[in-house]
Amino acid sequence: MQKRRGSKILVFLLCLVPLLWLGWRAWNGRLTANPIEFITHYTGDWTLRLIVIGLCITPLRKILNQPDLIRYRRMIGLFAFFYGCLHFLTWIWLDKFFDPGEMWADIVKRRYITVGMAGFLMIIPLAITSTTGWIRRLGGKRWQLLHRLVYLTAVCGVVHYFWLVKSDIRQPLLYALLVAMLLGWRLRTWMRPAAKRPAPMRKTPAPPSPVYSQSGQLVEREPPAEA
Ligand code: HEM
Repeated sequence: MQKRRGSKILVFLLCLVPLLWLGWRAWNGRLTANPIEFITHYTGDWTLRLIVIGLCITPLRKILNQPDLIRYRRMIGLFAFFYGCLHFLTWIWLDKFFDPGEMWADIVKRRYITVGMAGFLMIIPLAITSTTGWIRRLGGKRWQLLHRLVYLTAVCGVVHYFWLVKSDIRQPLLYALLVAMLLGWRLRTWMRPAAKRPAPMRKTPAPPSPVYSQSGQLVEREPPAEA
């Protein structure tokens, strides 16, 4: 139990490293000659990286036979949202000075902003409904269906990246390949008839002991993991 908590704290700290690194660079005046551009790119990169890392969890837990990896998915997803908020905040604050007219003009004029905005808007309901309470309220099936939106967010993130780069498309191409592979892997499972799908993975060595609320209702501890 202690080891499990320790590993979660470790993942939490790892997800904080990019923020600390940014803070360190800002403190030392090392945000390059164009700090706004640097922060925008840096936070955008980490948003996309964490979305992709979060999407890797399900395939990895199956391939490596490590069902426990599911414990980190919610945290990684929430950190993706957190860096997405910083990215968005950089744009509305440092770039657009909270001017709604300027923002709207950018959203309708620049297609990479339009698609980035769509990706960001889609990740919001996922962050809100990431709690155990929301999983119970929506029910496992509906919750899973809603959370498939994360693939659309990833696609929007990649298209956003493709449309904003001027010449060197290597980075967005790499993300596009990764997201395509992950989506292909999931589509194979989703399209397989239910009877042929593998049974959902159980945590090893034994399922976690159930947790009950004061009213005696079963409370789930981790988000449902898809087969
Ligand atoms: C899921 C949502 C989003 C993801 C994953 C994402 C990701 C990224 C990435 C990877 C970059 C390029 C970083 C680099 O070149 O190293 C970037 C740049 C940028 N993003 Fe986003 N972004 C998202 C949403 C948004 C939103 C909502 C806005 C503003 C409305 C926005 C505005 C920008 C701007 C202004 C740039 C820099 C463009 C330039 O240098 O020409 N992004 N973003």
